[in-house]
Amino acid sequence: MLKVGIIGIGMMGSTHLDAYGKIRGVKVVAVADLIRDRREGRSVVAGNVKGQSQGGIDFSSFKKYDEGMKLIGDREVDIVDICLPTPLHGRYATAALKAGKHVLTEKPFALTGREADQLAKTAASAKPMLMCAMCMRFWPAWGWLKEVIEAGTYGKVLAAHFRRVTQHPGGPFYSNGNACGGAILDLHIHDTDFVQYCFGKPDSVFSRGYARHTNRIDHVTTHYLYRKIPLVVAEGGWAMAQGFGFQMQYTVNFEKATAIFDLGAANQLTVVQNGKVKPVAVKAGIGYEHEIRYFVDCIRKGRRPRAVEPASAALSVKIVEAEVKSLRTGQPVKV
Ligand SMILES: NC(=O)c1ccc[n+]([C@@H]2O[C@H](COP(=O)([O-])OP(=O)(O)OC[C@H]3O[C@@H](n4cnc5c(N)ncnc54)[C@H](O)[C@@H]3O)[C@@H](O)[C@H]2O)c1
Repeated sequence: MLKVGIIGIGMMGSTHLDAYGKIRGVKVVAVADLIRDRREGRSVVAGNVKGQSQGGIDFSSFKKYDEGMKLIGDREVDIVDICLPTPLHGRYATAALKAGKHVLTEKPFALTGREADQLAKTAASAKPMLMCAMCMRFWPAWGWLKEVIEAGTYGKVLAAHFRRVTQHPGGPFYSNGNACGGAILDLHIHDTDFVQYCFGKPDSVFSRGYARHTNRIDHVTTHYLYRKIPLVVAEGGWAMAQGFGFQMQYTVNFEKATAIFDLGAANQLTVVQNGKVKPVAVKAGIGYEHEIRYFVDCIRKGRRPRAVEPASAALSVKIVEAEVKSLRTGQPVKV
């Protein structure tokens, strides 16, 4: 039985807690949060995706720590799951690796490309395994997309458009641009990451956007420029009016079909081909569960989690930095 300690029992910590409860061969034995009500399971921070952060978990058997470093020192813990604010990811992940623990750390990998590279370097030379929780790579309808792109099922991609927009989540972390990095780093990075996961590193990026709730970019649209794909665009932001809800969508136009996913429209994946509109069934569950199941499975089998290499998680942070530079200069920026 693999034993897990989760640091940070906010929205993502609660989401991960739910997920471990559904996986055999692993159990949460410890939690840490500076806020007493959170580490004692008395307050659940709601998520923005159906099925996420459900609450109802019995905390009575968990060891409870206030400071995350104390959990890292717990000898019973095999896996440290880091759901801390972004500026702390690198320091806590490094400490956990040094303590001999496997590490799952939330996205973005780090606040800056430099820190992300440093963490990737540390992870590459460490014996325990580390994976950054780039959850879109495990979201069923998104995994399907990666597969059909690679297999060439519908021919080449002519255009790919990703969209992830919502209202501002509020709270101190998401209101502090120096901590969360604005929507461009916190939210839009999911699509930046998926773009590079599917199509590789773009040659350059061209972005437009604006700040609204933080001192960083809170709504952005980026063109990812590739020599071989005519059009790759992602829009991301949390600048919509309160009450807007959360939208996560893609439209990918292939030579022989168009694929559409819309979380809002009944969580549906559709393929339009030869005049027919066909719903596509994908595996059940949300990305967080599949991601954690995958990571636990890698540890059990002693396999490196190749689905999200640390260097690849770091690259996504660096592409976002290029997007910020493009916004500042008004020019396309080489990645
Ligand atoms: N994968 C996703 O889809 C996704 C979605 C949302 C957030 N995130 C990421 O997850 C991370 C956490 O976000 P969140 O929304 O859960 O934040 P949150 O503010 O709800 O939770 C963070 C928790 O960490 C605790 N904490 C801070 N410092 C600590 C310390 N030193 N020791 C112990 N506890 C400490 C805080 O008290 C808080 O409860 C962020 O990096 C965010 O970008 C990922």
